[in-house]
Amino acid sequence: MTMGITEGAEPILELRHVSKKFPAVRALEDVSIQVKGGEIHALIGENGAGKSTLMKVVGGIHPADTGEILLDGEVLRLGTPLDALRLGIRTVHQEISLAPNLTVAENIFAGNEPTRYGLIDRRELNRRALEVLEPFKVKIPVNSRVGLLSTGLKQIVEIARAMAGSPRLLMLDEPTSSLERHETERLIGILRGLASSGIGILYVTHKLKEIFQLADRVTVLRDGRRVMVKPVSETHPGEIVRSMVGRELERIYPPAGGDIGGELLRVEGITKDSAFEDVSFTLRRGEILGFSGLIGAGRTEVAQSLFGYLRKDAGAVYLNGERLDIRCPTDSLNSGIAYLPEERKALGLYLGMSVVDNFVSANLRKYSRLGILSGREMDGACAGAVDMFRIRTPSIRQHVRFLSGGNQQKLLLARLLALKPRILIADEPTRGIDVGAKSEVHTMLRRLCDEGVGVIVISSELPEVLGLCDRILVFHEGRISGEVSRRAATEEKIMHLATGGGLSVEET
Ligand SMILES: Nc1ncnc2c1ncn2[C@@H]1O[C@H](COP(=O)(O)OP(=O)(O)OP(=O)(O)O)[C@@H](O)[C@H]1O
Ligand SMILES: [Mg+2]
Repeated sequence: MTMGITEGAEPILELRHVSKKFPAVRALEDVSIQVKGGEIHALIGENGAGKSTLMKVVGGIHPADTGEILLDGEVLRLGTPLDALRLGIRTVHQEISLAPNLTVAENIFAGNEPTRYGLIDRRELNRRALEVLEPFKVKIPVNSRVGLLSTGLKQIVEIARAMAGSPRLLMLDEPTSSLERHETERLIGILRGLASSGIGILYVTHKLKEIFQLADRVTVLRDGRRVMVKPVSETHPGEIVRSMVGRELERIYPPAGGDIGGELLRVEGITKDSAFEDVSFTLRRGEILGFSGLIGAGRTEVAQSLFGYLRKDAGAVYLNGERLDIRCPTDSLNSGIAYLPEERKALGLYLGMSVVDNFVSANLRKYSRLGILSGREMDGACAGAVDMFRIRTPSIRQHVRFLSGGNQQKLLLARLLALKPRILIADEPTRGIDVGAKSEVHTMLRRLCDEGVGVIVISSELPEVLGLCDRILVFHEGRISGEVSRRAATEEKIMHLATGGGLSVEET
């Protein structure tokens, strides 16, 4: 840790008694925080605690209602995000905000492209993009359109774009949510290097482990207020969680389920060119089956083909012994298969619609009598779900756009569960969800199983896979490289399989 640097250093960023209110929501209340030169300052708090709002206030997206923001000791007058950019304030936002139709290089230097004779100098542009991406040590074609990249690679481009501007202050809002473990470690190394060059870094995360790997100090927000700030070396995970949620959390994962029933889903040799090959497995009633593996191993594509987003080239799928012919998502919903997508913004929610409209949108038939929708029933069902999932919103009429990232994710899950599916396929179900809510989601999934539903969970977080799943399939380069039971599973075994190593039968 670099405590030595931060002790005497001058603050680069300082917030003094900043408050920010939205209609009916107090997002920040009298928050003060300092980020010093050379410091990595972690910011943590429950979903809706105000973390992203704080970054948006500093980034010039939202004006603060009261209080002062200082950069290098000077009070800032931020009118627009551009003002913040000019001062060297760079943000990596929680949701990917790249232009899908531009190339990787164009995105990184958008608005700031090198020119020659008044034209964009592509050669130079690509060369510089490669330079910016170099420390990440991943192969990203700088000439290809961003829309074609995986979520993980998009996230890296997003981070690289923020770094390309030689920032004075770098703010990252859950930058590792779609990164693999080794990519996260590399990012941590890169950020340490940046900090030691003297810039200030503000880092939002839901992953406690990262705080201890990376940060010098940590600030905890609860309901828009600062409830703790401490050097990381003087605190521990238990204390951070306690001050986040204001109570003690006893257990993180629910106990293993009771009876696992008979076969529900059987998948035989499904194949999709250049995505996955010869994938076979069964899912039983009441079982949580984990899909583990590195990003890009084909897990999401398998899930998408089961749900009908992707057409498979070969193979067969049976539900309760009957062959399924799924051509589109409607077919699979009609068969009782529900899917929680990885990218909630793209595939999941109508951001311009209200919480209740989103909640009922997948299931309108349920609320109609003789073709007439019952507003009261819809409201009632939605209010119940908001309560059960503790979705933080001032009302069920609020537009989903205004919910915090984690609360959007909870709404998506609530909507799916209201469909009462027979099979639920959840791709990274707890991404962006705070530690407390995470265990609520896990409990919810386990409860579904107790009702006889079969659940497939795709997760890149090994502790989650180990803590939650009854059985784990590990994917490597589009194939299943092994299967491990809950009892026998360890992080090492899974990593071994995920990176292409084999296991003998006794080990499983
Ligand atoms: N533009 C907006 N209009 C209205 N309310 C908003 C707006 N932006 C945020 N909010 C509300 O302000 C509160 C704080 O939201 P914020 O996005 O800062 O939370 P967060 O700590 O980043 O949560 P998460 O971990 O889920 O990302 C939430 O109740 C949210 O619904
Ligand atoms: Mg947020």
